[in-house]
Amino acid sequence: MLNLSSHEPFAIGGRRACYVAPDAPDQCVKVLRADRSTRARLSGNSWVPAAWRRAYDNNADEQHALESLQRRLGPGITSQHLPLCHGVCATDLGPGLRLDLIRDPDGAISRDLRHHARAGARAAEFRPAFEAFGAWLLEHRVMTRVLHDHNLVAQKQAGGGWRLVLIDGIGDRAWIPLRRWVAPAARRAVRQRLATGWPRIEERFARAAQPAADSAPSVPTSPA
Ligand SMILES: Nc1ncnc2c1ncn2[C@@H]1O[C@H](COP(=O)(O)OP(=O)(O)OP(=O)(O)O)[C@@H](O)[C@H]1O
Ligand SMILES: [Mg+2]
Repeated sequence: MLNLSSHEPFAIGGRRACYVAPDAPDQCVKVLRADRSTRARLSGNSWVPAAWRRAYDNNADEQHALESLQRRLGPGITSQHLPLCHGVCATDLGPGLRLDLIRDPDGAISRDLRHHARAGARAAEFRPAFEAFGAWLLEHRVMTRVLHDHNLVAQKQAGGGWRLVLIDGIGDRAWIPLRRWVAPAARRAVRQRLATGWPRIEERFARAAQPAADSAPSVPTSPA
C-alpha cells in the first residue's frame, strides 16, 4: 500500500487531491478528497442533484475512458495529449488512480492554463497549442467533457511553445454511445467542444487580466 498521507499533494482539485507517486516521480496518484469542504467545480445546468454530482467518482470514469483510448490508439498517440493511465493502486487515503505526471523540460510540474492566466500570460500565447490539441482530438475522435482551463496542462517545449495535455474531463457522458461508433457524429461532438472551449479559455484569461475591483486601495497612497 502506498503511503500518501505523510506527503503534501502538489495540487488539489474540486474532487481529487493529486500527489507525486512516492515510488515513481514521473507519475501522479489521484485520490478522491474525503475532507468535508470538498466542493466539486460544478458547471452547467443538470437535472442531476448537486450532491450526487459531487459524489460522482472521477477516478473510475477516467480510468475506463483512458484505458479504452489506450487500447484503441496505442500509448504513443494517446500520450501526445493525454496522460497514460497506469491503473489503480491501494493508498492509505483510499484507491488512487496512477497517471503520467506532466513535467516541463526542467523537471518542474507543468501548470494548468488557469495558473498561466492568473500569472498574467496572454491567451494568444497558447492558441497554437490549442489548435494542435483540437486537430488531434478531431483526427482521433477523442471525446471530452467541457474543456476547462484548469483541466488543460501546458507543457513547455524545449524548442519554445507549449503542448497541451488534458488531465481531467476525458470521455463521453452520453447515455446512448452512438457517437463513439459513428465517426461523423463523433467529429461533430468534438467540434462543438472546441467551438465553445477556446472562447471560454480566452474569457478566463481576459478576466484574470482585469484588476479585481476590491483589490484597489480604498485610500490613495502617496509614494514614500
Ligand atoms: N497529470 C498531471 N500532470 C500535471 N498536473 C496535473 C496532473 N493532473 C492534475 N494536475 C493538476 O492538478 C489539478 C487538479 O487535478 P484534477 O483536475 O485531476 O482534479 P479534480 O478534482 O478532478 O478537478 P475538478 O476540480 O475539475 O473536478 C489540475 O488542475 C492540474 O493543475
Ligand atoms: Mg479538474
